[in-house]
Amino acid sequence: MSNLKYEEILESLIDVLMIEKTKEDKLKVVSKILIDNVPNVIWAGFYLINEDGDLILAPYVGEPACIKIELGAGVCGTSALLMETKKVYDVSKFPGHIVCDENAKSELVVPIVKNDVVYGVIDLDSDRLGNFTVEDQDFVERVRDILITSIDFK
Ligand code: SME
Repeated sequence: MSNLKYEEILESLIDVLMIEKTKEDKLKVVSKILIDNVPNVIWAGFYLINEDGDLILAPYVGEPACIKIELGAGVCGTSALLMETKKVYDVSKFPGHIVCDENAKSELVVPIVKNDVVYGVIDLDSDRLGNFTVEDQDFVERVRDILITSIDFK
């Protein structure tokens, strides 16, 4: 069964993004959309790769988080390195998980990849174990696909 709320957000997302002028503003709006609409999320935001190949904290909504994550480190760095989504049922069981908020129990990280180049990740934390569904993952991956066409990440 498709989630109507997710479908409606996806349908209007390109228009919503066009209203915002800068990349930062666009990513801030998306962070807000994610934390407001994916259930039980306590942190939603972006890490973007800098010229040294590290993930640097970008727009987000939630408690202040770690500023720099090396490629391959934590859930975010692993997702970026492997260029694949990581849906983690219990972050305490994920080797090398980086604790930013002690209330975070499960995590969904979707890499931003275009033409085999990774530009960063979308990161969502939940205070519930195993919070994220296949539907949530599909939604965030489709948000990512729209961002790739609407924003110049270079
Ligand atoms: N837990 C993440 C770090 C980022 S915060 O959750 C905002 C990780 O292991 O990569």
